[in-house]
Amino acid sequence: MSILSLSLMPEILPSILSADFAHLGAATAPLEAAGCKMLHVDVMDGHFVPNITLGPPVVASLRKASKAQLDVHLMIENPDAYIPDFIKAGADLISVHQEACVHLDRTLRFIRSEGARPGVVINPGTPVATLEDVLGLVDFVLVMSVNPGFGGQKFIPHSLNKIRQLVERRKALGLQFIIELDGGVTKDNVEAVVKAGAEWMVAGSAVFNTVNPTDTWAELTRMANAAGIQ
Ligand code: DX5
Ligand code: ZN
Repeated sequence: MSILSLSLMPEILPSILSADFAHLGAATAPLEAAGCKMLHVDVMDGHFVPNITLGPPVVASLRKASKAQLDVHLMIENPDAYIPDFIKAGADLISVHQEACVHLDRTLRFIRSEGARPGVVINPGTPVATLEDVLGLVDFVLVMSVNPGFGGQKFIPHSLNKIRQLVERRKALGLQFIIELDGGVTKDNVEAVVKAGAEWMVAGSAVFNTVNPTDTWAELTRMANAAGIQ
């Protein structure tokens, strides 16, 4: 299955970071019943980012509870040491930070050779140009629109320029990577993000910190689809 066949329309990926960790299956099942095909899993180590979240055992539990594609965002130092464990636990897609990988080319090839789809992430302070030599190795590029570490932060508008730059580089190089954006996505900015050219939008607090997360996810999805076909 090609990565593009995963998602012909824009996708809203709920980030479980803002869900109830004691009831992850109950939090994600209604979303899947409503058509959600991908879940975003934020892994933080307290070193690369100033917060600690979860490791492979939680991914393995979620894997048992969910049929969705698990998009595992590694905000950790030395990701190579943990990539096989996350893939064994059930990660379908794994993204690593450009800023955390001394041997980024090697790490991205390693993710694919271990059986997951590789993605590369850049922080708000990292230019798109730093990715030029790895764009041909990835299935997706993730643009952080907040400084990673916490849910519920404010969207950094400059990230829209990065999305536009990636659209331009993708076309110029004849590549097919998906463009994902993560951080501060809400009903107020999802349309602008899609119009800039992103295909996958992560939304944590905007989905789970609402009375009915499934209805909110469906509304964000409807807005993203409407923006994508205009
Ligand atoms: C931030 C994480 C995000 C986070 C997004 O470090 O990578 O995935 O869950 O949360 P919101 O949507 O609340 O900004
Ligand atoms: Zn994330």
